[in-house]
Amino acid sequence: MCGIIGITSNKPVITNIISSLKKLEYRGYDSAGIATLAKNFIDEVKCEGRVTKLEKICSKKSIEGIIGIGHVRWATHGVPNEVNAHPHSSENVSVVHNGIIENSTLLKKYLEKRGYIFKSQTDTEVITHLLSEFLKKNKLVAAIQKTLAKLHGSYALGILIKNHPDIIIGARRGSPLAVGYGHNENYLGSDSYALKAMTNRVSYLEDGDICIVKKDQVDFYNSNGKKINKKILELSDKNEEYQKGDFQTFMQKEIFEQPQTVKACINEYVDTLRDEINIYNLPWNLKEVKSICLIGCGTAYHACMMAKNWIENLTDIDVVTEIASEFRYKKNNFKKDNLYIFVSQSGETADTFAALELCKKNKMKTLGVVNVVESSIARSSNFVLPIHCGSEIGVASTKAFLGQMLVLYIFALQIGFLQKKLKKNDYKSKIKLLKKLPELIKKTMSVEADVQIIAKTFADSKGSMFLGRGLSYPIAMEGALKLKELCYVHAEGYPAGEMKHGPLALIEDGMPVVILAPRDKHYDKTLSNMQEVIARGAKVLLISNKGKEEISSDNLWKKILVENCSDELLPFLITLPLQMLALHAAKYKGYDIDKPRNLAKSVTVE
Ligand code: AGP
Ligand code: GLU
Repeated sequence: MCGIIGITSNKPVITNIISSLKKLEYRGYDSAGIATLAKNFIDEVKCEGRVTKLEKICSKKSIEGIIGIGHVRWATHGVPNEVNAHPHSSENVSVVHNGIIENSTLLKKYLEKRGYIFKSQTDTEVITHLLSEFLKKNKLVAAIQKTLAKLHGSYALGILIKNHPDIIIGARRGSPLAVGYGHNENYLGSDSYALKAMTNRVSYLEDGDICIVKKDQVDFYNSNGKKINKKILELSDKNEEYQKGDFQTFMQKEIFEQPQTVKACINEYVDTLRDEINIYNLPWNLKEVKSICLIGCGTAYHACMMAKNWIENLTDIDVVTEIASEFRYKKNNFKKDNLYIFVSQSGETADTFAALELCKKNKMKTLGVVNVVESSIARSSNFVLPIHCGSEIGVASTKAFLGQMLVLYIFALQIGFLQKKLKKNDYKSKIKLLKKLPELIKKTMSVEADVQIIAKTFADSKGSMFLGRGLSYPIAMEGALKLKELCYVHAEGYPAGEMKHGPLALIEDGMPVVILAPRDKHYDKTLSNMQEVIARGAKVLLISNKGKEEISSDNLWKKILVENCSDELLPFLITLPLQMLALHAAKYKGYDIDKPRNLAKSVTVE
């Protein structure tokens, strides 16, 4: 993943580099570093850990450079420590990198034979030495091109060169990179979010592009070395500062924001007076779509699983879901009536983006469901449906998951209606029910007090299971993922009816098990599965919805009831206690909730 920033200015850049790195920490936070160029000398400061630590170290030094690069790392090659932190500098060249150089072992051998000494275990360091080598006999652009031609894999790069003290070089293949334009200074950054505090005018590099950034000029070259012009885009929101407010963590804030974010999204897509959906101007006719493939990773993939159920229930369309990292390397039968939907909060996930590029290469219809509208996936898809939930900072996705499900549900209603599988009356009454969702989410938030107590058992357990059927199965998967990533305990999401085919053997006395049994058509069957795990000693937390009939509490350890709503909307409500469960379990353990270990918010490496 990793975050890159570069600034070339007429005044010292260290303060802005540090504040941009803080913004980029969502991309990686195991180490950080900067390099500035001053008085013909590359001054490098690096450390293991967070940007605040780097800031402290820098504050004790006088760093005067008016040109510099910075990096936050999510290690792929080499442990997270100071030596492996970026930039990787030689006497002449300093490099920050996002991506993976797949042939680094071979290149390293080649360079070692030529006398280069490697300090780090990273794949990135080969770029530093290769460029130093090519600069000996080539002009700048040619040396860069020759270096890039040797690299297999993916990269976004920021480079300082001692003999060119007024430029930062950027290059991209497979990892995102943007250029920002300021007054007497220009910028390079992994994304516009990092640049927003300094400018709202940006251009994006495409794969194969190189840029040379001076304080008053930026030149772009394409993969053939031809000078090209780039469109300058004006970003909507110059400096969107997103604060925690009264919450201790962004995740908690993002959970409790969901009534508003869901409402905002409904307002974007639903004509609330006429009870109709406003999705217009699609570049293809939805009536003609015969099959749909939904693609995503992690939580976004769980939203895809959910959408498959809804679309299948509301249309006759064949729907498949694909994990992006699998899809991109398998044989696919691309057909012209297929619609490919890419679901991603960040819009930068490398595997999802690569899957999208593959579909585009095969001339497929592509639809992006993203949160970040300036992202690579948004820019590359034929059409975009934003989820409108605002910045999501917590690494564990919460409000974006609800947003993804919501947009996909709205889309399912629309396609069902257009394909005449959903009658006008049903369509309208489903929209009417949907309009009530924000209020139901708000009311369901009151379960937090109970969940907080229950969470301790999950935090202390060595493992747990999350079981559901039908629409609750993807939510079980999501609940387990949340607990794993925040609380570092094993948790497994499983279809409740599948337990007896193996995983039941895991159940032992006292093991906490979440049963998702809303009162939908699977209710009775799920309760039977619940009895099967109780009989084997599990401590069951039942999550259902309020209803006329009291649910018997016999043999149950705990019970949480969400508000009542239509079966199709229940997944939104039963997700909430699971988000809170993971949050509070991690709190008990004292873990970093917004930045869980080993992870990053935007996964721009495969
Ligand atoms: C969610 O809690 C995870 N951190 C992760 O699974 C995430 O959903 C996944 O990496 C996909 O990210 P994206 O939505 O930005 O593509
Ligand atoms: N491969 C580089 C490293 O491990 C960059 C990692 C990344 O972009 O995630 O340092």
